[in-house]
Amino acid sequence: VEATLTDGPLKGRHVIVTSGPTHEPIDPVRYIANRSSGAQGSAIAEALVRLGARVTFVTGPASVPPPAGVELRLVETATQMKDVVEAALPADAAIFAAAVADWRVEGASNAKIKKTATGDVPTLALTENPDILATVSQRAEGRPKLVIGFAAETNDVVENATAKRARKGCDWIVANDVSPETGIMGGTENAVTLIDADGAEVWPRASKSEVAKRLAERIAEALGPA
Ligand code: CTP
Ligand code: CA
Repeated sequence: VEATLTDGPLKGRHVIVTSGPTHEPIDPVRYIANRSSGAQGSAIAEALVRLGARVTFVTGPASVPPPAGVELRLVETATQMKDVVEAALPADAAIFAAAVADWRVEGASNAKIKKTATGDVPTLALTENPDILATVSQRAEGRPKLVIGFAAETNDVVENATAKRARKGCDWIVANDVSPETGIMGGTENAVTLIDADGAEVWPRASKSEVAKRLAERIAEALGPA
């Protein structure tokens, strides 16, 4: 077990980390979700705490426990996540590791939807969720100095992630290939490419905690002493 560096390079810094999936209700007993475990987000928050940062950890219903030492904010939906992130500002850096649902159910039912005698099936109308990363990246005031997004892609990883960085207006994108054959989604390892204004840097495949540690060190380097 590594000790927390209370005098670490991120001492005096506030970092927001989003993590996990979001759940978008269909009715009180059903929801739309995705396969994110929250493992990479948890590992990043833990690595930041170890370097001395104050971490606000905003997480959807993840399957791994949150790390010790964070300010924990539990949310369910994308809309709640956005509100909680904005309320946690200002921050020196914000890392958007959550797998936010792109859509929510429009007019979710307040009562359990029942089967009908005729066998008619319900139709779900979807509406787009707010893009939390883009909203924070494009803030006119109170934008964190360093805004980092993730891009989970199944093809043309660097090309897609580079376009995503420009579209969102964030500083860095941590891109990864989540094709089923990589085993990364839901696994313990990650293979990422860090994309910044200067281009793409391929990192070796490593455990999610090694990737997190390297990212936290890179963040400390970029922010400099508080
Ligand atoms: N993100 C977010 N809010 C959303 C959707 C995504 O904050 N509503 C963040 C994610 O946490 C991630 C980054 O944006 O850091 C990229 O997410 P991704 O799903 O790859 O991008 P999208 O813009 O949703 O594009 P698509 O899913 O169509 O590839
Ligand atoms: Ca998406």
